[in-house]
Amino acid sequence: MKILVVGGGGREHAIIKKLNENKSVEKIYALPGNGGISACAQCVAIGAKEIDKIVDFAQEKEIDYAVIAQDDPLALGAVDALNDCGIPCFGPTKAAAAIESSKVFAKDLMKKYGIPTAEYRVFESARDALEYIKEAPLPTVIKADGLALGKGVIIAKNRKEAEDAVRRIMEEKAFGDSGNRIVIEEFLTGPEVSVLSFTDGETVVPMVSSMDHKRAGDNDTGLNTGGMGAVAPNPYYTKDVAKRCMEEIFLPTVRAMKAEGRVFRGCLYFGLMLTEKGPRVIEYNCRFGDPETQAVLPLLESDLLTVMKATTDGTLADTEVKFSDKYSCCVVMASKGYPQKYETGFEITLPEECDGEIYIAGAKAEDGKLKTSGGRVLGAVAVADTLEGAISAAYALTDKIHFENAYFRSDIGRRAAMAGKEK
Ligand code: AMP
Ligand code: GLY
Repeated sequence: MKILVVGGGGREHAIIKKLNENKSVEKIYALPGNGGISACAQCVAIGAKEIDKIVDFAQEKEIDYAVIAQDDPLALGAVDALNDCGIPCFGPTKAAAAIESSKVFAKDLMKKYGIPTAEYRVFESARDALEYIKEAPLPTVIKADGLALGKGVIIAKNRKEAEDAVRRIMEEKAFGDSGNRIVIEEFLTGPEVSVLSFTDGETVVPMVSSMDHKRAGDNDTGLNTGGMGAVAPNPYYTKDVAKRCMEEIFLPTVRAMKAEGRVFRGCLYFGLMLTEKGPRVIEYNCRFGDPETQAVLPLLESDLLTVMKATTDGTLADTEVKFSDKYSCCVVMASKGYPQKYETGFEITLPEECDGEIYIAGAKAEDGKLKTSGGRVLGAVAVADTLEGAISAAYALTDKIHFENAYFRSDIGRRAAMAGKEK
């Protein structure tokens, strides 16, 4: 089989490595891929948003199956365009991808179908939003409607911050058209859990739960990033919580999408907050999370390609999806300065052999060397019998990886390891 994967981060590296385990896979093309992915797939310089070029390439190479891993091509209708040419895909159609690409759509869906989430209001004009903010309970959460590279969410502690956020999003258009509408919602508290799931539009099979670490600094301080590390499973996600989430959130969501004529197939990501009143949806993503995928997929024992194809074919209920009961930790090594300004072009040295996986994200191959080219450079991942073991093995792996200006958090997994031990 010839496979195409659209995307070029650490998540795609993890997906491609796993797809390569299937013996029927003869070739994988990554569009655009990256300097590390080129060791396990052929990288082609076509951007993830260049839908026409992706479709032409897929037809020319007679691709058998395409995996659209990144959010923007899904929102732009890559799956629809490839399906129109007879190429089956892993991932939702444009209509179904709206669950991530429009927060207003997602919130209205949850309200209509009684899926628990934060109370909210939608605003189409800055004037109305600013008026509402004068009275809104604080802190308040302001979200740009559209995709914003994970930066479109502002938690305002006071009215001034809330006003600034509204003006930045709606008037200054900090996120372009993504800020034409905003959601202002209730501030919730509780542990956060990421649950990635496979779904064929009827059946939902959650993967092992995980915990992302979104802030740049230790102890969850500093700016929000794309994610500085992840551990799996998430200790807060107990069997009871999982059962409630399946009944109150996962199945209702998939059924709601079907009822709306937007059947969701692919990976549906539930960003949850476990509040005192029960689990609430913080966000949906229409794709695998990054860096959660790098922690979760090493625990998958079943064949990834088989499971992916079952989501496309509608046969997920008859397909085994098995995860090991071990623990996994992914520590993201970034360029110092990320998520703001940082330098790139530094040579990366990796160990010849290692216990674990190194998933490359922001690196390019140049003169036979691997050099940094992005904010998040790579993920060091280890699997062990205990969470503590996975954390220390992942950090031991970072000791063997070198590049100038490397920065990583020193506390990935600490909160998870402390769960249940708090005073
Ligand atoms: P998102 O980009 O939607 O994942 O939001 C980024 C982060 O903002 C989440 O991981 C939460 O930590 C936080 N967040 C989003 N919505 C809320 C909310 N309603 N209450 C509290 N925190 C929130
Ligand atoms: N780690 C969060 C995301 O992938 O959006």
